[in-house]
Amino acid sequence: FIPPSSGGAGGGITAKDALGNDIMASNFLANHNAGDRVLAQGLKGDPTYLVVEGENAIADYGINAVCTHLGCVVPWNASEDKFICPCHGSQYNAQGKVVRGPAPLSLALAHVNVTEGDKVLFSEWTETDFRTEQDPWWA
Ligand code: FES
Repeated sequence: FIPPSSGGAGGGITAKDALGNDIMASNFLANHNAGDRVLAQGLKGDPTYLVVEGENAIADYGINAVCTHLGCVVPWNASEDKFICPCHGSQYNAQGKVVRGPAPLSLALAHVNVTEGDKVLFSEWTETDFRTEQDPWWA
């Protein structure tokens, strides 16, 4: 038995919206603007931001929204150009790199790919964290 939305060979899971529907890239891009960070359901069910990089591009990385302090979901603050945790005030830059504690670590990353069928897939990020040049703490 293979669940229909397992993403197939190569691993990864289909990003889902708040209603549990698969996110389709073309529809997603038609409804969001460059610079938006939009929550989706990601790996292990973690809320994960998709980043709209340009008019027609979803960034190839997603940002796990779970605060590395005590696990609150961190909202995007567009006017501040940061993620700001409502629980204890930790701040992360637009790529999820921690810039103010008490959070000890940057937000986790996931790879994002768009399939030929227009689905948006998340998969594990096990490579160097491009924001810190360090090994990923979450892998
Ligand atoms: Fe985010 Fe404490 S849980 S700052």
